[in-house]
Amino acid sequence: MKAVSVCLILFLVTARMSVARILSQCQLLQELRNRNVAGNDLATWVCIAQHESSLNTAARGGPNTDGSFDNGIFQINDRYWCRENGVGGSCNINCAALRDDNLTDDINCALKIKNVQGFTAWTVYSRYCTRAVLPGC
Ligand SMILES: *[C@@H]1O[C@H](CO)[C@@H](O)[C@H](O)[C@H]1NC(C)=O
Repeated sequence: MKAVSVCLILFLVTARMSVARILSQCQLLQELRNRNVAGNDLATWVCIAQHESSLNTAARGGPNTDGSFDNGIFQINDRYWCRENGVGGSCNINCAALRDDNLTDDINCALKIKNVQGFTAWTVYSRYCTRAVLPGC
């Protein structure tokens, strides 16, 4: 029984590790730089991701009061921006693509949201990130 429990725990730990990746602030900064995100916005993006998801690429938050869910490192909402079934929303993607380890979709969609709504689309922005400073990497 004990051995079974240990195996189960190991399985759960490794299964979780294979889907969730917790980035450091410096790793996210590098990913943003690799995709040519505007230098002036880098500190703000890292701050938003820190407060939205604790830098967990697989984060799924919710349900929100309207029944929607938030996806990935930037906690992008499935009411407007992605679809859980098939592809869709304004970013024309499946929400699961926002919860995998590949941040290309997440960053593209986040940039689109910022273009449409500004950083205030993220409620954490006004509270924590208006004077964000770059992590020392
Ligand atoms: C990440 O996703 C993008 C867009 O979906 C794709 O073009 C790219 O090849 C992916 N990168 C890796 C390393 O899988």
